[in-house]
Order: sequence, then C-alpha cells, then structure tokens
Amino acid sequence: METILQEWISLFVRWAHIISAIGWIGSSFYFMWLDSSLKKRAGLPEGAKGDSWSVHGGGFYHVVKYQVAPAEMPEALKWFKWESYMTWLTGFTMMFATYYWSATGLLIDRDVLDMNEGQAIAASMAVLALSWIFYDRLCKSFLRKWPVVVMAVLFIAIVAASWGFQQVFSARAAWLHTGAIIATMMTGNVFFIIIPNTKILVADLIAGREPKAEFGVIAKLRSTHNNYLTLPVILMMISNHYPMTYSHPYAWVMVAMVLVIGAAVRIFYNRHEAGEHGFAVQWQWPLVAVMSVGLVVFSMWRPDQKQVDFDPVVAMEIVNNHCIACHSANPSSDMFDEAPAGIKFDNLNQIRAHASKMVAQAVLSNTMPLGNITNMTEEERVIMGSWLRAGAPSE
Ligand code: HEC
Repeated sequence: METILQEWISLFVRWAHIISAIGWIGSSFYFMWLDSSLKKRAGLPEGAKGDSWSVHGGGFYHVVKYQVAPAEMPEALKWFKWESYMTWLTGFTMMFATYYWSATGLLIDRDVLDMNEGQAIAASMAVLALSWIFYDRLCKSFLRKWPVVVMAVLFIAIVAASWGFQQVFSARAAWLHTGAIIATMMTGNVFFIIIPNTKILVADLIAGREPKAEFGVIAKLRSTHNNYLTLPVILMMISNHYPMTYSHPYAWVMVAMVLVIGAAVRIFYNRHEAGEHGFAVQWQWPLVAVMSVGLVVFSMWRPDQKQVDFDPVVAMEIVNNHCIACHSANPSSDMFDEAPAGIKFDNLNQIRAHASKMVAQAVLSNTMPLGNITNMTEEERVIMGSWLRAGAPSE
C-alpha cells in the first residue's frame, strides 16, 4: 500500500515538476530569443531599445523593449517568477517523496558511507543550502569584475562538488545532487537576486527616481549563468534512470563533460540568434560532437569491472539470495505485494530477458539490491555480472 501511495505521489509531483520546468525554460528561451531579435528603428517610443514582431496562433505580436524602464509604470505587469519557484518547489517535493522517504534504499549506500536516514537527509539539505551560499558569495566576491573567472570557478566547484557527493551518497543520489545544487543556484538567482533587483527598479520608477543601471548588470550576470546551466541540469535530471551515467566510478568527469556540452549548445544558440556569423557560430557543434562521443566512450571505460570464471549454480544462488525477495511473482519481502517495476527473476528466461538491466543495476552500479538490504558483496556482483554477460548459461 505504502509503495503504491509513494509511487503515485512521486508520479504526480514529477508531472508538476516537468510542467513547471517546461514553463520556466520555455519562457527563458523565449526571452533570450526576444532580446536578440530586437531591432532599433525610428518611431519607437521614448526609451525603447528596439522592437520585435512575431506571429503565433493566428495573430501578430508586437513587442517593444525598454532599455531600463518605460517613462510610466504600466497598469498590469506580468512577472515571470512562479515558473522558476514552482520548478524548485516541486523538485524538492520529489526529493522528499523519493530520496528522503526511501533514504535507506536510494540516498544511502553503506559501502560508500555508513549513515542513518536522519544524517543522510540532513547532509542532503545542508548540501543544497551551502551550495547556494558558496555560489552567491562567489558572485559577490572581488572576482565579479571578471565574469569569465567566476564562470571557471563555478565550473570547478560544481565538478568538485559532484566528486564530493560520490564520497557521501549512493551513486544515483550523488548524480542527482549535482543537478539539484545547479537547480538551486538557478532558482536562487531568480528568487534572491533577479526579482528583488527588478523590484528596486520598479520602485524607483514609481517614485520618479532615475533607476540605477547597476542592478541590471548584477541580474545579467546571474541570468547568464542560468542560461549556460539550463541544458546540463536537464540532462542531470533525466539521466537518473540511466545507470551508465551516474554509476561510473569517475562520474564527476562526466559531469564536467556534460557542463561543457550543454553550455556550448547554449552559446551557439545565443550567438546564432544574435545574428553572428563565421567562427562565432562554427566551433560549438564540432566541439559538442567530439565531446559527446568522448562521453560515450568514457562511460564504456570501466576500470572497476572484471570478468571472472563462474559456476552457474553459484551465480543463480546469488540471484536467489539477493534479488528474488522482491523481484518475484510472489515477493517474500513485505515491502512489495508485486514485483517492483514488474521485473521478475523467477526463472532463467526471465533472467536472460533482463540480463543487461541486471548488470546495469547491480554490477555496473550498486543501485540494486535496494539499499543493499541483503548485503550483497563486491565479489558476488562480479560473479553475477560475469555470468549474466556470458548469457546466463545454466551449466
Ligand atoms: C528490497 C527489494 C529489492 C531487491 C532485493 C532488489 N530489487 Fe531491484 N528493484 C526494486 C525496486 C523498488 C525497483 C524499482 C526502482 C525504480 O523504479 O526506481 C527495482 C528495479 C529494478 C530494475 C529495473 C530498473 C529500471 O529502472 O529499469 C532492475 C533491473 C532490478 N531492480 C534488478 C535487481 C537485481 C539484479 C537485484 C538483485 C541483485 C535486485 N534488483 C534486488 C527492489 C528490489
């Protein structure tokens, strides 16, 4: 019962999370495009930077951008902020409904660090808060005069953090936390910096004061970071069901590659939409192609994997001891009334049908058995893996 309830909560929250994220990213891509499509021409109102025409859904849209602000406050002003807040809130709720609710199974890997659930959850929350504090300090430090240096330090810090998470959480949770700290920085930027600075601007305008451009500059730095981090964070979130990413012993190297690939794609679109030509829009895709191939090849390099001689009887015994309590037509575990994910290993045919998934979950990574509830040893994983890779022969 509890499992089904938890799964439904997780599904509903995931649904809301994805919808908010689409809203946030969609509007942010739209405004990036809008900004670069602006044309300055005669006849625009006082203080206008440019205007842009578009057509959508059977109607024409005419948008004018004011460099700092219009001469008078418009009556109705639409703020784009809830898309971002809801994405973070639903994301954090999902963290609760999965990683915190089932901390023993998902957040903790006792072979990595032996923590109890309270410690693991506290560590997870602390990591989210501290990453924001670090990032915010970084942006406000003396380095802010050199945005490229800030970006480089941020890159190194994210990669270092992902290495750190690998020393604390389960592989899957470590990977997700890298995504979660990036997402927290992005929403933090909207909540703590971009919106408050814009509010100052609006207040100045209402009071008839000359708005200060410096607030715009600060907001711009943060929104540039958000722009470059958008694509990597999406990959980090959706790859949580692809063990070839998070289960790698050097997953942090893959994090670095994903950051570069995602940022390069964004840079291409930024430049392309700004109408740039030549080398400015030519280097990104070749780089992305080479790095993507590098990422795939790197994921296949698993220095921690070995193939050993096995006895099929022993190998089957391992599956019986470590998997069947849950993955059976009649699970003996009282956590489950039916086989989780519908996956059963009651006979050789079922095992062979799922062999590559079993390797992914229990050999390439320690995701299964859930929370290593059965204390499966490294040696047993190697034997089971060697047997499964050989096609799970019966003798
Ligand atoms: C304590 C219960 C439990 C045990 C023991 C267990 N599993 Fe699982 N398994 C689960 C649950 C729960 C899921 C669904 C997880 C999810 O979807 O996030 C699952 C999912 C899976 C999946 C599908 C994953 C996917 O995303 O496609 C595979 C493959 C798997 N387990 C293999 C194994 C193997 C191999 C063993 C033994 C070495 C094992 N499991 C032991 C509970 C268990």
